[in-house]
Amino acid sequence: MRAVEPLRILPGEGVEALDQTLLPREERRLRLRTVAEVAEAIRALRVRGAPLLGVTGACGMAIAGGERGAGREALARAAAELKATRPTAADLGAMIDEALRAADAAGDDEDERRAALWRFAAEALARQRVRDAALARHGRDLPGMEGGVLTHCNTGALATGGEGTALAVIAAAWRAGRVARCHATETRPLLQGARLTMWELAALGIPATLLPDSAAASLIASGRVNAVITGADRIAANGDAANKVGTCALALAASRHGVPFYVAAPRSTFDAAAATGADIPIEFRDAAEVGGFGDQRWSPDGGDAWNPAFDVTPADLIAAIVTERGALRPPYGPAIAALTGMAR
Ligand code: MRU
Repeated sequence: MRAVEPLRILPGEGVEALDQTLLPREERRLRLRTVAEVAEAIRALRVRGAPLLGVTGACGMAIAGGERGAGREALARAAAELKATRPTAADLGAMIDEALRAADAAGDDEDERRAALWRFAAEALARQRVRDAALARHGRDLPGMEGGVLTHCNTGALATGGEGTALAVIAAAWRAGRVARCHATETRPLLQGARLTMWELAALGIPATLLPDSAAASLIASGRVNAVITGADRIAANGDAANKVGTCALALAASRHGVPFYVAAPRSTFDAAAATGADIPIEFRDAAEVGGFGDQRWSPDGGDAWNPAFDVTPADLIAAIVTERGALRPPYGPAIAALTGMAR
């Protein structure tokens, strides 16, 4: 299978990003060479998925070092600009802060600081690949990861730059002969499931069935789903997990029918400073995204719409949170404190 490469780093120059808004119809790579271009690509979801946003944020800081200078003030301004693009994914802010620390560790010489930023960005992408592979191994044998499984949004290579999170677990369970079919929700309004997950599943050769978001509860009730597994954008210290809007409804339906609901996420997605889900900032997006898609409009112009990009699934609905260090089980508080306190 051809590896999906959502981001290529061109050290000292910029990055090449696969424009995910055009998939699966067109594979167009964009060259991003300025902080403004990186910020636009993140805001427009040309690059997306929490871990990939983290890596892209690190690249944005390296680009800032070349474009605006690698002094502390210039980098702090770029960091604030990049962090403001999308508020929910913990990885974005976490990796930008790590990039700042890497520059500071290089001292005061601007050339050294710039080189450290590019090194950090490349390492961040390489680390993500290793983490994804470990996470997939830890999730593969979970109870219920067999027969039919259900996932939401896109959590594959496109979302991380490695193998993915939840989708990597599904792929590993499929390779192990456990999973036989992956059901993918379309994921309104931006259709990450229909456009991106179905594309990745086809490339992986995994039998896949697409369903409207609104059909998920009846699919689960039909007995065709043995486990539901999704990614996360930010996980609070008590295990409450923010992910693509619609995730909480899947967890509720799974709970009603006795099906395990799992979350797969690397350590960079945990936010020890958020005590519960109530402390997680939720991104709200333009009403126009609900009333149409691309150039097509199907709702009257100017109408109101409620368009949160994420929702929070309470920890008590989550059977396990799979990380690159193993699967965490409830009660999550102590397990998350141990995980986030560990050295990298
Ligand atoms: O708005 P998106 O497409 O960036 O949302 C992505 C998700 O919700 C993913 O499930 C999450 O980032 C985990 S990615 C491995």
